[in-house]
Amino acid sequence: MDVIYMDNNATTKVAPEVVDAMQPYFSEYYGNPSSMHSFGGDVAAKIKEARENVARLIGATADEIIFTSCGTESDGTAIRAAIESNPNKRHIVTTRVEHPAIKNLYESLSKKGYRVTFVPVDSLGRLDLDYLYQNLSDDTAIVSIMWANNETGVIFPIEEIAPEIKSRGIVFHTDAVQAVGKIPIDVGKTEVDMLSLSGHKFHAPKGIGALYLRKGTKFTPFMVGGHQEKGRRGGTENTAAIIGLGKAAELAIGHLAENGYERIATLRDKLENNLLEKVPNTMVNGDRDHRLPNTTSIAFEYVEGEAILLMMNEHGICASSGSACTSGSLEPSHVLRAMGVPFTAAHGSIRFSLSRYNIEEEVDFILEKLPPIIENLRQLSPFWKQAIGN
Ligand SMILES: Cc1ncc(COP(=O)(O)O)c(C=O)c1O
Repeated sequence: MDVIYMDNNATTKVAPEVVDAMQPYFSEYYGNPSSMHSFGGDVAAKIKEARENVARLIGATADEIIFTSCGTESDGTAIRAAIESNPNKRHIVTTRVEHPAIKNLYESLSKKGYRVTFVPVDSLGRLDLDYLYQNLSDDTAIVSIMWANNETGVIFPIEEIAPEIKSRGIVFHTDAVQAVGKIPIDVGKTEVDMLSLSGHKFHAPKGIGALYLRKGTKFTPFMVGGHQEKGRRGGTENTAAIIGLGKAAELAIGHLAENGYERIATLRDKLENNLLEKVPNTMVNGDRDHRLPNTTSIAFEYVEGEAILLMMNEHGICASSGSACTSGSLEPSHVLRAMGVPFTAAHGSIRFSLSRYNIEEEVDFILEKLPPIIENLRQLSPFWKQAIGN
């Protein structure tokens, strides 16, 4: 069965061009980039090229890019560097809708005695900026705010927030894992000190990420070891993956330059608008005017998201639900809870996240299969019967 893959915020297909770029660096050009011989030096030159491409994608300079193993490592490195560089400050700030890579780290730091502020969002998932600014103080070591939300796609106004944070002399980090490659990002125009990105969200392989570190920002490495990454992250480079990340960055630059995401947004909108029209008691979670072009989180009231996923799976359709079932609980996600999405809607929320590999026929297929799935599930739902007074 063909798979219709609309779970690209979870991970993406590695682009064929990326696979081709990586291939020679496993068993043909396997030299250590730190070696004195040119067999290793040639690999170092390819890594340099990759670093330049990743830098170009976000408007940075090459020496501001530190390769890491993933978005989670980039996030953890940034937060720990900020607090270690500001040992007298005991207050850290983030939002209520961050990815677990930030959320769980902040929670563990709170147990270690840090005072943590989680900035709330409104019902559309928009950040309460007054609350953010009012809660900053001389004791604040770092503010970490995601650029775009992984569940709803809602984009936070990082360009607007950055100068406010910087004017108070506080380190500002953004988790841009979902934003990089999908919307234009320019750290030249946005005063973030650190930014996390992850290859597998934009068609590079899993297990490779990067941390942007603005020149002059105080830094303490998380991985202490060799001199790799100018002593900022020890460990022999994951050369093939770095080269793959560089290729994916180059492709993303081209895709953004030709407004490739307009086509993806058109497909997303077709899917969303038709589902809203065809299926009663359906709504979109999040601010539709400020979203990633590839993401929609749709709440089908009075049905279980897991049941929808299983039935879609029968047709080869891959998406995600808004429940944290992977954590062993059927609690709705902390993101939807923070937005105050009603229980009956949060439980039936499905995230579709598209990529440049999706085509219109796939949207049409989902539009054919999904409405009857919801209708059938609702026939079995006591909540639905109650809602329609039956
Ligand atoms: C917003 C956000 N931050 C961080 C991560 C973690 O990235 P990685 O899987 O590369 O560790 C993800 C992954 O889903 C994410 O969506």
